[in-house]
Amino acid sequence: MTVEEVKCLKLFVFWILTILDTSSCLEGSYSCPREGYTRTFMFSKRDGISQSGQSERTKTSMEIDSTALAVVLYQEEKLLPHEKKSRNFNIGGHKFSIEQDWHIGGVAAVVWDAALVLGEYFASNPHLIDGKQILELGAGTGLAGMVASSLGADVIVTEREEALTFLENAISSNKADKHWKIKAEVLDWTHDTDPLKWSHFDLVIGADIVYIESTFSHLLKTIKSVAPSSKTKILLSCRIRYERDLKFLKMLKKFYNVEEIFYNAKLDIKIFSAVFKS
Ligand SMILES: C[S@@+](CC[C@H](N)C(=O)[O-])C[C@H]1O[C@@H](n2cnc3c(N)ncnc32)[C@H](O)[C@@H]1O
Repeated sequence: MTVEEVKCLKLFVFWILTILDTSSCLEGSYSCPREGYTRTFMFSKRDGISQSGQSERTKTSMEIDSTALAVVLYQEEKLLPHEKKSRNFNIGGHKFSIEQDWHIGGVAAVVWDAALVLGEYFASNPHLIDGKQILELGAGTGLAGMVASSLGADVIVTEREEALTFLENAISSNKADKHWKIKAEVLDWTHDTDPLKWSHFDLVIGADIVYIESTFSHLLKTIKSVAPSSKTKILLSCRIRYERDLKFLKMLKKFYNVEEIFYNAKLDIKIFSAVFKS
């Protein structure tokens, strides 16, 4: 590390420590001018972590992996679930074991509460799932999609290219010899989505995918491509961390009838349904 890089790091750490006691959550950006990049991140006391959501290269050739993350520990008991190497769940009578590796895969390689809540919601409402064709956006470790497939749905779980191998591994180790219909594919919201390939689903699901403002327009465009009519229902489970997360719902409401259909107060996760306005 050069002196300038160390200076940048010190400033960043100092800033984080300064705001720890005064703010329950924040979003910000951390610039390292010498290296020519800006890393935007979000921080939530409830999650006990800071996560760098996106990194944006501005001028040098230094490669910044968009899954690279800065982790700030301050509430150990809250952090443990994400730090664990693996998590085990029993949902709807099915067991799921998921390897986690925050340091390698970032936000895509840990299980978020929203996925757990969505999976449990499916298990409590199997009629919504059984026999349905389901597309999961931003699947991460794929827990919600796997629960849906264990309940009889035909599922495609999708992710950014960088996160696909992690997702595929989670699927194959849980699927093993079971007759689940589930596969993992790349679907990056920042790329154009072929409507012919992706618009035939009964249900589009997403767990904790509303979390970085700069992705909102891409996410909305993707949702409009994969759910272009009222034939495809959308279910999003969300932790509303910031006022601005509501902005996405406002954007969605321009094109879809959006309804809050479930709230898990303990985990503070809401599930919204959305159906295209005809
Ligand atoms: C907070 S994580 C949630 C992961 C998982 N759904 C869960 O709840 O455990 C957000 C997910 O959105 C994915 N994501 C972010 N930007 C994306 C993009 N442009 N295209 C596809 N997925 C994206 C991330 O890779 C990450 O897996």
